[in-house]
Amino acid sequence: MYVYEAILKRRSIRRFKQKSISIEILKKFVNAARLAPSAANLQPLEYFIVNDKNLCSKIFETISWAGYIKPKWTPSPKERPVAYIVMLIKNIENKWYLRDVSLASENIVIAAEEEDIGCCILCNIDRDKIRQILGIPEKIIIDSIIALGYKDEKSVVEELKTSVEYWRDENNIMHIPKRKLEDVMHINNY
Ligand SMILES: Cc1cc2nc3c(=O)[nH]c(=O)nc-3n(C[C@H](O)[C@H](O)[C@H](O)COP(=O)(O)O)c2cc1C
Repeated sequence: MYVYEAILKRRSIRRFKQKSISIEILKKFVNAARLAPSAANLQPLEYFIVNDKNLCSKIFETISWAGYIKPKWTPSPKERPVAYIVMLIKNIENKWYLRDVSLASENIVIAAEEEDIGCCILCNIDRDKIRQILGIPEKIIIDSIIALGYKDEKSVVEELKTSVEYWRDENNIMHIPKRKLEDVMHINNY
């Protein structure tokens, strides 16, 4: 798959088939993250792969899903992620570290798209609980989690008209409003 194709095709996925992802593939995603651009090449990130069923169930309880979907919704037991990559920051020597996390995250989600694996970047998470579940030392910052699994959901982009809120239709298809190209782009003149 061409990179641009993967970028166009990628959507956040929150419903997953209960088929495991091989550890080789999960390591490949971490490798993709490891090689992302890094401010001053300081490489402050570390990655915690969770694929143990028991740990996955515990991590699932720390996540808030799809805030715009009402009434409050969470994936059913048959739709839960089968793995997670926890994005850790081992030091913040450089004020740009959040950009490093963002770039590494994008590498993961695009590499996942190539494997036809769905992902959701999650920041609305209970970091204290995650720290306790995974035994992550206090000095390490837990930035975010990427939930992973083979896709069991369809999500489509639509033109943003009035609201940025994504929504789910009667066929359970997610609709993601995105600003139009002409609305976000300036060529030689603002
Ligand atoms: C920094 C960041 C934090 C996010 N946190 C959550 C979250 O806690 N829960 C969730 O369900 N989705 C979360 N998302 C997914 C966004 O809702 C999603 O990217 C957005 O709706 C656009 O949809 P798309 O990824 O399909 O283009 C997060 C995305 C980003 C980039």
